[in-house]
Amino acid sequence: MASATSRPPIRVAVTGAAGNIGYAAIFRLASGAVFGPDQPVALNLIEVGPGLDALKGVVMELEDAAFPLLADVVATGDLDAGFRDADWCLLIGAVPRKAGMERKDLLGINGRIFVGQGEAIGRSAKPGVRVLVVGNPCNTNALIALRAGKLRPENVFAMTRLDENRAKAMLAAKAGVHVSAVRRVGIWGNHSSTQFPAFAHATLGGRPATAAIPDHAWLRDTFVPAVQQRGAAVIKARGASSAASAANAALDTLRSLHFPTPEGDWHSVAVLSKGDYGVKPGILFGYPVRTKADGSWEIVQGLELDAFAREKVALTEQELLEERATAAEALGVAL
Ligand code: LMR
Repeated sequence: MASATSRPPIRVAVTGAAGNIGYAAIFRLASGAVFGPDQPVALNLIEVGPGLDALKGVVMELEDAAFPLLADVVATGDLDAGFRDADWCLLIGAVPRKAGMERKDLLGINGRIFVGQGEAIGRSAKPGVRVLVVGNPCNTNALIALRAGKLRPENVFAMTRLDENRAKAMLAAKAGVHVSAVRRVGIWGNHSSTQFPAFAHATLGGRPATAAIPDHAWLRDTFVPAVQQRGAAVIKARGASSAASAANAALDTLRSLHFPTPEGDWHSVAVLSKGDYGVKPGILFGYPVRTKADGSWEIVQGLELDAFAREKVALTEQELLEERATAAEALGVAL
């Protein structure tokens, strides 16, 4: 297949490509909605078992969409073929949680998948490949893949953008403004019920959130738990975990890491900690991040964390350290 422009395509490998999140993501990737209207995209679609039959239908639908920017499609059940020459790996495929579970309860089921995927990425993807883990528990799964594949630490990410988007929507609704007016919402720590959506740095229409929303008890006691529990609330309502909003957040993350962050703003993603804000090194920790003009990224520095925030950050750090220890023991590997 030849694409409409002469730029080399960005090759994106997607696991769980025929699943609910994958299906909601790949057509938007192919349309140019993530990397822009002049950037061809190639898709390496990876599935397992029964998903492989469904994947044939997905490939037919991609053909039928006649996307001008779609340069190539590989559909496979083989991890090395799937990750071959990938610029980006979007690791979605994993068993989702059911009502009543915490995401970390999936570690025993999903952790092992990310060993094999990390190793295959290390062998077959481009040396500078970037990896975003969506499958839960995404922070610790990302650490497993990073270590297994000996991937470049600065190129491995876990998704906290869904939490950021949820937090923005809740702040906007409370203040009676449009969601597009909300900026600088950082999700700290784990994509779990211990995550900390830091409202104190957020702005609504340029005003501090704490001024636009004078009910600070609501921010602490209603907003924070509501963001932490939103995934569980979606599962309760839908009878299945979030799919379209998760796909949307994954694509927002890719776009935000690909293009420079607008002045004065940031985006949330989990990266390998190196001690910033006193967090222990060696866990995938959600931070507010800025993407620079050269495509590299940096953690936003100099934010004040009050006693309430510090307590929340310590809790989510503790949970990630425990997840790391549990995963290392279960997998028999050093993490
Ligand atoms: C979400 O936040 O909606 C997803 O991580 C799915 C889940 O288990 O909550």
